[in-house]
Amino acid sequence: MEALVLTDTKKLEVKDIQKPEVKPNEVLIHTAFAGICGTDHALYAGLPGSADAVPPIVLGHENSGVVTEVGSDVTNVKVGDRVTVDPNIYCGQCKFCRTARPELCENLSAVGVTRDGGFEEYFTAPSSVVYNVPDNVSLKAAAVTEPISCAVHGVQLLKLTPYQKALVIGDGFMGELFVQLLQAYGVHQVDLAGIVDEKLAMNKEKFGAVNTYNTMKGDKIPADEYDVVIEAVGLPQTQESAIESSARGGQVLMFGVGGPDAHFEMNTYEVFQKQLTVQGSFINPNAFEDSLALLSSGKLDVLPLMSHELDYKTVDDFVNGKLGVVSKAVVKVGGEEA
Ligand SMILES: NC(=O)c1ccc[n+]([C@@H]2O[C@H](COP(=O)([O-])OP(=O)(O)OC[C@H]3O[C@@H](n4cnc5c(N)ncnc54)[C@H](O)[C@@H]3O)[C@@H](O)[C@H]2O)c1
Ligand SMILES: [Zn+2]
Ligand SMILES: [Zn+2]
Repeated sequence: MEALVLTDTKKLEVKDIQKPEVKPNEVLIHTAFAGICGTDHALYAGLPGSADAVPPIVLGHENSGVVTEVGSDVTNVKVGDRVTVDPNIYCGQCKFCRTARPELCENLSAVGVTRDGGFEEYFTAPSSVVYNVPDNVSLKAAAVTEPISCAVHGVQLLKLTPYQKALVIGDGFMGELFVQLLQAYGVHQVDLAGIVDEKLAMNKEKFGAVNTYNTMKGDKIPADEYDVVIEAVGLPQTQESAIESSARGGQVLMFGVGGPDAHFEMNTYEVFQKQLTVQGSFINPNAFEDSLALLSSGKLDVLPLMSHELDYKTVDDFVNGKLGVVSKAVVKVGGEEA
């Protein structure tokens, strides 16, 4: 079968490889779509994602497809089911797994990171991480259940309530997801700061963002204003503005991933005086069911945010930044008919 293999750091090759065998607890999936994100950029460049990827490896931790075979112990899915896979596999034995914080697992493995993922015709996953896709959700939309779940985990770490006024900093795919998600979780006003006029306008006209700020064009985010601030860029300057724009009693979700050696400055008196909560967020534990329900109910509309459909050849252009403004790219492997 055909696969896009990361054969070395910064080297992607289309190869003919062996179709994987199914173990008793595993499911074989005919891939429909595989999403591609910043983590894949990092893995491609030889940097760690949620875990280290060691070439040769098939990336594709965001994915969807149709079950074509199940191992003898599998009870939750059957052949023909439309599914999506939570890439993260927790050990169930470490201190974090045994204290209900599996995302912090000391022995994390992941489909599309430490084992082959969706950039191939068929891939396997343990049945424990395979989820049925509701009938009214397309396999293309289902391919981004993993990033949606990361955002759902982030909002689940906050105390949200309708009176709050929220600001999302970052008009990438994740920031755009948060605009819809915060409203789905009941927050009455969500504002968006970004750098791309078209995206800011779309989120205002179509997805309910109230005020938008183009910070590249000099728009100033008001200080001390927001009960909830989601930082979804990962740069020191946006992390600093997340703190500055938070109101007294504010909660700041540091969702963006900064460089391993990056730091940002925080005024210690502000932390005290505002009684700030600064919350990190790592991956997506136990969030797939909520994410699929949000897609099925229409509270999350992701297809308009999915800007690029790639094939194996154009993945290289994506990781090398040749595609211009990409909100979200997916690789069409088998397509809806997979
Ligand atoms: N915590 C997690 O589990 C998790 C999961 C997925 C992604 N992330 C991180 O979230 C961040 C956003 O993800 P993404 O996929 O949307 O990435 P992305 O790179 O597509 O988006 C970042 C966006 O930020 C915008 N931006 C750049 N500078 C800005 C500025 N000064 N002010 C406002 N906006 C600015 C750009 O328009 C860009 O689209 C990344 O850092 C990513 O690594 C974290
Ligand atoms: Zn991802
Ligand atoms: Zn563990």
